[in-house]
Amino acid sequence: MSGRFAVILAAGQGTRMKSRLYKVLHTVCGKSMVEHVVDQVAALDFDQTAVIVGHGAEQVKETVSRNVEFVLQEEQLGTGHAVKCSEHLFSSKEGTTVVLCGDTPLITSSTIKKLMEAHEKEQAMATVLTAIAEDSTGYGRIIRNDEGQVEKIVEQKDASTEEATVKEINTGIFCFDNQMLFKTLSEVKNENAQGEYYLPDVIEILKSKGEKIAAYQAVSLDETLGVNDRVALSKAEELMKLRINEYWMRAGVTFIDPKTTYVSAEASIGQDTILYPNTTIKGASIIGEDCVIESGSEIHTSKLGNGVHVRNSHIIESTVEAGASIGPFAHIRPNSEVGTDVKIGNFVELKKAKVSDRSKVSHLSYVGDALVGSDVNIGCGVVTVNYDGKNKHQTIIKNGAFVGSGSNLIAPVEIGENGFVAAGSTITEDVPKQALSIARSRQVNKENYVK
Ligand code: UD1
Ligand code: MG
Repeated sequence: MSGRFAVILAAGQGTRMKSRLYKVLHTVCGKSMVEHVVDQVAALDFDQTAVIVGHGAEQVKETVSRNVEFVLQEEQLGTGHAVKCSEHLFSSKEGTTVVLCGDTPLITSSTIKKLMEAHEKEQAMATVLTAIAEDSTGYGRIIRNDEGQVEKIVEQKDASTEEATVKEINTGIFCFDNQMLFKTLSEVKNENAQGEYYLPDVIEILKSKGEKIAAYQAVSLDETLGVNDRVALSKAEELMKLRINEYWMRAGVTFIDPKTTYVSAEASIGQDTILYPNTTIKGASIIGEDCVIESGSEIHTSKLGNGVHVRNSHIIESTVEAGASIGPFAHIRPNSEVGTDVKIGNFVELKKAKVSDRSKVSHLSYVGDALVGSDVNIGCGVVTVNYDGKNKHQTIIKNGAFVGSGSNLIAPVEIGENGFVAAGSTITEDVPKQALSIARSRQVNKENYVK
């Protein structure tokens, strides 16, 4: 039976990135390059997918969460050698193998599918995905004969002056007859400028044996951009950003300025939400419908319900329920839960705090390690004093309580239901429900003292 297999090359160091981070782990719109490729491959029906790892193997394995086989390429001797490392998995199988590079994050499943269809239609032994590049620097060049058939692929460093002018490039993505691929790989030599075993050399070898080689030209170079340095990385980011933003715009989200709006590849946004310029949605954030996210806001791996309004604020690893209003200049730190119709006003910081429905923390307060009930009013400049220098302690504020402005709540402490703390109090003991608590020294007026 004929199978379909995929091999993704991700073992290189990425010297040209000049980075301590291995190349394929660099992110594009918040997702590593190798994951982008793996995800597109996973959208298709492959029987088996192998990811070739080497440099940073453990980190790459940790990053890729999908069900793939990892194959270690101990020494990076070239792309041909990398593919050959998966020989034990595939060489005896009949079918088609697609080879992709982990540094082409913009490739889509639809193009991979078209490449495979072209390969099958042509009944070729190998089909290379090519693209036309105005500036083909760095890419392998596709050399065709007088009849227009692909003869071979020449790397930039091995190209003659004439070959170097060719604008049709090797995207690094191929379709092969599986058994023929592995048979031919053992004939690939490393006698070239880089002393590497090049995968593209398989094409010339097959051609010389009279086998059928086909080429399928990608609609745009953008999709097949190979990221070898930071300049290309920024180009990939720009293209991916636009692709993601256009996807959400088509899904009913308004972007006032898509050029300055950053939405992670893993985030999702509900219909009729409006994103203002300079907003960033990171991680696997879920933004509800009819939200308004204003300039300067950054939302990181958080969940927002419908109709949430965020102004110039940071929300990190937290949840915000429907109708809540945040900011301007609020900082919602990890593990916070903001309830329905809650108001978190300017210069308020929450940390590991749950603020239940309809409560208000309107101005200049710090609420950390706290459980705040519903319909609570926390006045201006209230501080939950949660840290004694060694340990963190919890503050509990029950439903309907009122905490007057400028109060310090020295945790651990509890304000009972409908309890009322007078402004300026320093609360060190629990406040019973319905009680008024005043914890400040009395005012003394010294008549004519100033005179
Ligand atoms: C490669 C192609 C080039 C093509 C370009 C498209 C070769 C020899 N050249 O060049 O024709 O135009 O991609 O982007 O194939 N890798 C390994 N093990 C190795 C070497 C590389 O796993 O021993 C991986 C890298 O991690 C990378 C991919 O293979 O993901 C491509 O390697 P890279 O060094 O980026 O090749 P290019 O110079 O871009
Ligand atoms: Mg590359």
